[in-house]
Amino acid sequence: MTGDWNLSGKVCLVTGATSGHGRAVARALSRLGGDVVILGRSRGRCLEVQRQIAGENGGRNPDILVCDLSSRADIDQAASQFLSWGRPLHVLVNNAGIVSRYRQESIDGVELTLAVNYLAQFQLTLRLIQRIIESAPARIINVSSDTHRVYTLDLGDIEHRAAYSFMGAYGRSKHAVAHFTATLARRLQGSGVTVNAVDPGPVASNIAGGNPGLIAPLAGALINLLFPSAGRAARTAVYLASSEEVGHVTGGYFKSGKQKVPRLGPEEDTGERLWQISAAMAGVDMPGWRPGAGTSRPLEVSQRLQAESAQNKDKGDRP
Ligand SMILES: NC(=O)c1ccc[n+]([C@@H]2O[C@H](COP(=O)([O-])OP(=O)(O)OC[C@H]3O[C@@H](n4cnc5c(N)ncnc54)[C@H](OP(=O)(O)O)[C@@H]3O)[C@@H](O)[C@H]2O)c1
Repeated sequence: MTGDWNLSGKVCLVTGATSGHGRAVARALSRLGGDVVILGRSRGRCLEVQRQIAGENGGRNPDILVCDLSSRADIDQAASQFLSWGRPLHVLVNNAGIVSRYRQESIDGVELTLAVNYLAQFQLTLRLIQRIIESAPARIINVSSDTHRVYTLDLGDIEHRAAYSFMGAYGRSKHAVAHFTATLARRLQGSGVTVNAVDPGPVASNIAGGNPGLIAPLAGALINLLFPSAGRAARTAVYLASSEEVGHVTGGYFKSGKQKVPRLGPEEDTGERLWQISAAMAGVDMPGWRPGAGTSRPLEVSQRLQAESAQNKDKGDRP
């Protein structure tokens, strides 16, 4: 794996850059000369990483976007702030993710794992997509996980209202990321922007730490003891961001530096149906693709689409 796409002067935005995998990716991209922007929900933790990176790269301060990715308003605000800077965007790493032991809802009333792990990627990417296209050649890297192979999205109950398990919610959010990557890659064909998904493999990180109860710290300690370091796990994402070898690869899914086949089945149109539901939930769509999208009542539309999807499933046909 080589880092031979010259990142010098390239603007690289990394979400969830305050811990684990995202922090390691941000540090590595900065070492390769990238002009890094850190997106995190805590200003304090962002400042800490900013200081660390500045110390490592000779004092060049990465910029900071403070944004809670579970909030649609916050994502819109962060995207607007970035766009107002007037800077290009060459690399977007959608990394932030959570595991939530219990079913929780975001401030917008969306199941939290779906909101942070997937819908935030969708909304942030589409809010920035015009700028990314203008900056081409450019790359989008979405962090998924091989758990997407185990759990299949249920478009009739995308928010796990009927039943919830933390691994089910996590795996399905990562299945959504795999679909989003493939669908977005199709829409971006010919634009000079590539989009790929990555499974970093096991990462020593805080992923289990934010949960209540005694098990979370124990699981967190075991993860940090047994799993590979974040720096090591970050190699595949950094490779996707910085290697000429993959400069024209798009719609791929990578693990351990190698391209794999994601499990997108079983229905061929899942990606497109997921896109419609997501556009309604996030209140954003791809300019030129679905004119008129971006509704004033996105959650109601999403509930209607989910209900229709469930009805059609019961009837055995699809819209
Ligand atoms: N750990 C693994 O074994 C593993 C395996 C496969 C895939 N992954 C994926 O790798 C990615 C990074 O996870 P990690 O293991 O490095 O976990 P981590 O150490 O917990 O890092 C997660 C990052 O996401 C941020 N984040 C969480 N909720 C957020 C929100 N609402 N708004 C903004 N930022 C938020 C966290 O911010 P704070 O610092 O403020 O908490 C942190 O920076 C995730 O997508 C995860 O699913 C991890």
